[in-house]
Amino acid sequence: MAVPFVEDWDLVQTLGEGAYGEVQLAVNRRTEEAVAVKIVDMKRAAECPENIKKEICINKMLSHENVVRFYGHRREGATQYLFLEYCRGGELFDRIEPDVGMPEPEAQRFFQQLIAGVVYLHSMGITHRDLKPENLLLDDRDNLKISDFGLATVFRHNGRERLLNKMCGTLPYVAPELLRRPEFRAEPVDVWACGVVLTAMLAGELPWDQPSDSCQEYSDWKEKKTYLPPWKKIDSAPLALLHKILTESPTARISIPDIQKDRWYSRPLKKDAKRARLSSGGVADSPGGFSKHIRSDTDFSPVKGALGEDKASYSTSQPEPGTGGMPWESGTGSIDQLVQGFSFSQPACPEHMLVNSQLLGTPGSSQSPWQRLVKRMTRFFTKLDADGSYRALKEVCEKMGYGWKMSCTNQGDGLEFKRHFLKIKAKLSDIVSTQKVWLPGT
Ligand code: ADE
Repeated sequence: MAVPFVEDWDLVQTLGEGAYGEVQLAVNRRTEEAVAVKIVDMKRAAECPENIKKEICINKMLSHENVVRFYGHRREGATQYLFLEYCRGGELFDRIEPDVGMPEPEAQRFFQQLIAGVVYLHSMGITHRDLKPENLLLDDRDNLKISDFGLATVFRHNGRERLLNKMCGTLPYVAPELLRRPEFRAEPVDVWACGVVLTAMLAGELPWDQPSDSCQEYSDWKEKKTYLPPWKKIDSAPLALLHKILTESPTARISIPDIQKDRWYSRPLKKDAKRARLSSGGVADSPGGFSKHIRSDTDFSPVKGALGEDKASYSTSQPEPGTGGMPWESGTGSIDQLVQGFSFSQPACPEHMLVNSQLLGTPGSSQSPWQRLVKRMTRFFTKLDADGSYRALKEVCEKMGYGWKMSCTNQGDGLEFKRHFLKIKAKLSDIVSTQKVWLPGT
């Protein structure tokens, strides 16, 4: 018999926050199952109820290993609770080291999984319209999952394709035709975004602010100036694929079946470094870095819809066959009761401390988006204990001529701060660990 939702599930951690509301991690006290709960305040935008309905409808159509699974949803008043697969590995964004990227075999594997997810969506007549590393999550085995169907729409129904006209997405990832034409095809726009994601994975930076002639970097790309960054950091084989994907004309742009035939795409993996590290018992390293070039929603405003609507993002998908124990399967209690039943502070039983301490390693655990960002910009792990790390940091700062003051706050220009942070990190390279080390109390 189903244990009532209110007694079984704790909301233990904030996974993410956005205009729509927030995503919380819910853990079952008894089974320790983990579920991501998206809590959407429908009062925040006038079109929100319609947007959510559409998103739920789309997600109910979806079931694929490279798409975040939807378990169900509950509504109470103006609040929607969406129950989603919890992706323990966090965002793909966090695997991209600023100005570096990631090892090519890892990028190839993530790209293949991204394309597999997009092939599936397109086969269902769905276009995502906002593919970017922030919307690509990773599970505990580093499998990529496409997330957030808040901007998704149907472009093919009963075998008939319709053209799109709504401007939406995130500027550095949008295709040029979207900025130029009243109408455009859906699939090539998603393909273009996948190309920008691949560039970010291989170079650790985004190629341009937007793909328009007013943007120097975009003009340079069209003139094939690949001796410039980011292109000069990318090997000729993936670069050849990028030439085919980031082709201005959507009719000349490579199709997904042809991407799958590409030499680099279909090349056998030399060595899957990430998986090797994981299977040898090590913890995957997440650089936790930040680049103004990568986290686009921080530096560039998302494109507003033709009618000026804001992006709304919340997700849903195919409910699992009911076993009776999941939060969305509670048949009687109201959502108010459910929310009151959640514990926002300490776990009820000591054994749940285990769950909470394990969660320390979960990406996206800080309280506000700003804190989360700062953490990404300024985090590295050392091989030393706290005292040793403190002494080494103090010594390097003094050598570099920085004033030294112990403080818990961080003020001023974040990007400038990050530049200094990276310099200090480089000077401490002898003690910087390539593994995550979580010490008690950190
Ligand atoms: N952040 C947003 N959605 C998430 C999910 N499904 N899993 C983990 N983190 C998330």
